[in-house]
Amino acid sequence: MKILVAYASAHGSTAEVAEFIGRVLTTYSAEVDVADTKTVTNVDGYDAFVLGSAVHSGVWLQEMLLFFDRFAEQIAQKPNYFWVSCIRALEADGLLHAEMYYFNHRLLQSVNTRDIAVLTGKLKTEEITRGEQWSLAANYDGRMLPGALHQDFRDWQAIATWANQIAKELKLTPVFETEADVTAV
Ligand SMILES: Cc1cc2nc3c(=O)[nH]c(=O)nc-3n(C[C@H](O)[C@H](O)[C@H](O)COP(=O)(O)O)c2cc1C
Repeated sequence: MKILVAYASAHGSTAEVAEFIGRVLTTYSAEVDVADTKTVTNVDGYDAFVLGSAVHSGVWLQEMLLFFDRFAEQIAQKPNYFWVSCIRALEADGLLHAEMYYFNHRLLQSVNTRDIAVLTGKLKTEEITRGEQWSLAANYDGRMLPGALHQDFRDWQAIATWANQIAKELKLTPVFETEADVTAV
């Protein structure tokens, strides 16, 4: 099975999440490509899609919407999964809030998305531009000050759990080193 893990990331942390999901899936009988949505020109030949975007001001990054504009028809024909990386999920009601408001549910229903995941992201204020700091302060829809949510909150075990669930859903089987590989070590 050939799987595309495609991401939209402004500062690289969602890209690393995508790499990690890809790495988990390659422990199964799957050929996996991990790619920035901006660079994908063709999705022919993929049997499944795992897609994810960082959330800025309550919405996906624009390049993910553009990706759907281009490929929704092909995505809809294959099993597909979608995650968002955000910080709002760290707040008391955050998971529910993110599930309700940070997904374009109409779009995801139109492509029959099988599962969604809210993953906690990474925010380092010193790594974002002054303009982004203003935008975040003005538009963040949580109760806490976004400056207080200033860390790498990515939960690699939770990410691995989700990737493993996808593998189970797709009925992938694990690959093991061949005897020849083992004796070669
Ligand atoms: C300008 C800006 C706006 C953001 N807006 C939100 C938001 O509305 N809700 C939220 O939960 N997280 C928000 N975040 C946090 C990001 O979703 C989080 O840091 C994510 O992990 C960033 O992923 P990236 O490194 O791939 O860009 C914002 C971050 C930035 C820089």
